[in-house]
Amino acid sequence: MKKLTVLTGITTSGTPHLGNYVGAIRPAIEASRDENVNSYYFLADFHSLIKCHDPARIHQSRLEVAATWLALGLDTDKSTFYCQSDITEIPELTWILTCMTAKGLMNRAHAYKAAVQDNEEGGSPDPDKGITMGLYSYPILMAADILMFNANIVPVGKDQTQHLEMTRDIAQRFNHHFGEHFVLPEARVDESTAVLTGLDGRKMSKSYNNYIPLFAPEKDLRKLIMKITTNSQAPEEPKETEGCALFEMFRAFATKDQVAEMRAKFAAGIGWGYVKQDLFEVVNAQLAEPRKKYAELMQNPAYIEKVLKEGAEKARAYSRPFLNRIRESVGIKTLTA
Ligand code: TRP
Repeated sequence: MKKLTVLTGITTSGTPHLGNYVGAIRPAIEASRDENVNSYYFLADFHSLIKCHDPARIHQSRLEVAATWLALGLDTDKSTFYCQSDITEIPELTWILTCMTAKGLMNRAHAYKAAVQDNEEGGSPDPDKGITMGLYSYPILMAADILMFNANIVPVGKDQTQHLEMTRDIAQRFNHHFGEHFVLPEARVDESTAVLTGLDGRKMSKSYNNYIPLFAPEKDLRKLIMKITTNSQAPEEPKETEGCALFEMFRAFATKDQVAEMRAKFAAGIGWGYVKQDLFEVVNAQLAEPRKKYAELMQNPAYIEKVLKEGAEKARAYSRPFLNRIRESVGIKTLTA
């Protein structure tokens, strides 16, 4: 049986938080253990330049995101783990794809449209104010990430499914014109993976600044959990588990038995302070070991660098010859042929 290629990227513009862990990193590491899967996981650092123009932050985030995956036990022998910017074939492919991408397709991209709408609502005479070509062409870079390795499955959040449709569109157009080079990828949006709520009741996100850093020191983790917004129900009142941010988070970290126990406590009435204490215990139990490893890794950037460079070599063993075929297919090849 031919192995399936699963690929996903993480933009390196912030510190990984509990939501990233539960929603993306943990399932990806689990998938990488499947013998029938070829997994490619990478730091999308070229993507991070779209929104962040602070070199120190980009640098720090690249280090933190890489250390996070390694601390959580990603087996880099079983998977290919690399930095997007080390694969020089990706920006090359991006250009080749850019020349096959309809401008109208990019006009329809959600991220671009939202930025234009913000300008219009803000009363700006220029709808494109502050919008770079990076933001505008972002889906093409993402298409290159995916098509470069002929990924079959791309696990992403709901907000990214449009980019996968665009990737398929671009690939189809290329294949139609230059021959069947690219596999058409599919988005995998896993409805069963938890989406965590942040401190303020909105979805946990770097953009809302309402997140709990994955490897916050134990004391900070406790403090942050204590800060999560709750309603004003009295301790003895029976409580709904459905839609309760604390319960959702608890469920994402606890065993089945622990969850059943907590459900019973909710029904019987439990004070929010006790729920938070139990929540802290289960989250901390799962993160204590990786947190130690993370601290060690952060002290050893040379090691992380080495792992990423090895990953890049492994990735390029595929992308180099493949890009050569793509170049040839469009007519860029030795003049003697
Ligand atoms: N755009 C994705 C995000 O913001 C990150 C990303 C970049 C990505 N390239 C990718 C995800 C390729 C999947 C495949 O979440």
